[in-house]
Amino acid sequence: MAVMKILRVLSDGEFHSGEELGVVLGVSRTAIWKHLHKLTDLGLELVSVKGRGYCIEGGLDLLDSESIMESLVGGVGERLSSFDVFAEIDSTNSFLLSKNGSAEVCLAERQTSGRGRRGRQWVSPFAKNIYFSMSWVFAGGAQVLEGLSLAVGVKVVAALESLGLKGLQLKWPNDVLIDGKKVGGILLEMSGDVSGDCRVVVGIGLNLEMPTKASASIDQAWADLASLGYSGSRNDIACRLIDHLIPLLAGYSESGFELYQKEWESFDAFRGKTVKLISADKVEQGVASGVSTSGALLLEQDGKIKAFSGGELSLRLAV
Ligand code: BTN
Repeated sequence: MAVMKILRVLSDGEFHSGEELGVVLGVSRTAIWKHLHKLTDLGLELVSVKGRGYCIEGGLDLLDSESIMESLVGGVGERLSSFDVFAEIDSTNSFLLSKNGSAEVCLAERQTSGRGRRGRQWVSPFAKNIYFSMSWVFAGGAQVLEGLSLAVGVKVVAALESLGLKGLQLKWPNDVLIDGKKVGGILLEMSGDVSGDCRVVVGIGLNLEMPTKASASIDQAWADLASLGYSGSRNDIACRLIDHLIPLLAGYSESGFELYQKEWESFDAFRGKTVKLISADKVEQGVASGVSTSGALLLEQDGKIKAFSGGELSLRLAV
């Protein structure tokens, strides 16, 4: 993609002349204009100064597949059957769902139709956040997947903590929060045979440095990792996600959620708080009391503990 070639040059935040950019693309100085125009379509702001050329203020932290592969913990890279990094894609989850493999990873600089839970859109501006998907095939059908999305949440927090980030919490079933605001989301989508070989695509979206303009379309309280002081690279985050997810997915049919239950509870943002559990036709109120060994939400209601599970439920603090 020609635009990516230009972006790699401009990613250093310095000025580059039209002539230099033309050489990179093998086109004339005037033809470069057409390409620079595309940067605006991607939502990027290009500074142009006569006599100096073009620059992207502050530079860009672009994804780099080689550097991600090189930094993986020993042996993990060999377990991947494919690894794709796209400049732009509709949705990294859709891409892996459309393939038929296992242990595949896909990342994108931007998603044009990023998907969230319960039919929501996932706001996915260019080169700012993480849009990550990994596929895995589980023999033994969908039942072995109970609680998997919560266990993924545990691993996402562990991956971020391994980069020095602190203060991350989880909201049932698997939102990643900072100070009660959503910084990341997880979407598991299944294909294949629910009673035989079952394919799961694990989709993870993490806000790193959400641009104000893009944030206008987010309809819930949100945060980004920059607000926790993270100034490291997006490649490091992608790498740590792979490092943490491979062992989880490889061992999950054996371990189940039980192995991750206590760790999930240690990150529980709502433990001991009065909450509302909202479904299409009902609202349940109770005191959040952790999760069961299968990942169901436990609520204390009238002195009794009740377990709730299901993908269409949403949890809020009762005010
Ligand atoms: C949520 O609503 O909390 C889940 C958000 C999941 C977003 C990620 S971004 C990468 C992957 N591709 C998608 O289209 N969605 C997931």
